[in-house]
Amino acid sequence: MITLKSQREIDMMKKAGRLLADTHKQVAKMIQPGVTTWEIEEFVDRYLRKHGAISEQIGYNGYKYAICASINDEVCHGFPRKVSLKEGDIVTIDTVVNLNGYLADSAWSYPVGKINNLTQKLLDVTKESLYKGIEQVKIGNRIGDIGHAIQTYVEAQGFSVVRDFIGHGIGPTMHEDPQVPHYGLPGKGPRIKEGMVFTIEPMVNLGGYETKMDNNGWTARTMDGSLSAQYEHTIAVTKDEIIIITLQED
Ligand code: MF3
Ligand code: CO
Repeated sequence: MITLKSQREIDMMKKAGRLLADTHKQVAKMIQPGVTTWEIEEFVDRYLRKHGAISEQIGYNGYKYAICASINDEVCHGFPRKVSLKEGDIVTIDTVVNLNGYLADSAWSYPVGKINNLTQKLLDVTKESLYKGIEQVKIGNRIGDIGHAIQTYVEAQGFSVVRDFIGHGIGPTMHEDPQVPHYGLPGKGPRIKEGMVFTIEPMVNLGGYETKMDNNGWTARTMDGSLSAQYEHTIAVTKDEIIIITLQED
């Protein structure tokens, strides 16, 4: 069941989204060779608490950390850990902010030091694919239009779109309807309506789209060991405008 959000609820989610965008801007400054994802975990946890918020990921289905930190071939749900990032790595930092009971969700991939041209292209294409998806968010369009736009663009660039993890509605809880796949056919799925709030979060692989699960039961990585990137925003549909509530303004 898709719950539509009131203007007041969307305003509350915008505040969570602004804090999350600020968090990512701080994280961006920390990313460099030698830093560990554990240091980023500690920073994000402290920063959110300092601003009266908490990561909704802590305790979610037994997940223990404020962030997911997925390095190189890790697709999503990597655990933060005391291992240094290396020059040439990419790392995706994902977190869900809970501010006064209202949530916002955003993941961002970061280059560590200098990366090669193909890796840069993976980041560029993945970020652009998110915006191709957002362009389809219009009252009257269907959810399937989003995934179709993302998949068409990504595959034309020679990369693949992960099927095993998808975007989702969000509100007072992290995962709500509708499901938002990043692939598929136009004209399918629920109609986009005023009051919907959902994430778009394409994971794009250099190689094939298949993933496998680590023994920890959480971390997904590419089956073929190729690199994977992800950009995620939370989007609110209002009568007058489509709001990217996690937008990182300069
Ligand atoms: N932020 C993730 C999402 O995009 C959820 C992470 S799962 C968790 O849906 F357990 F780590 F919270
Ligand atoms: Co997320």
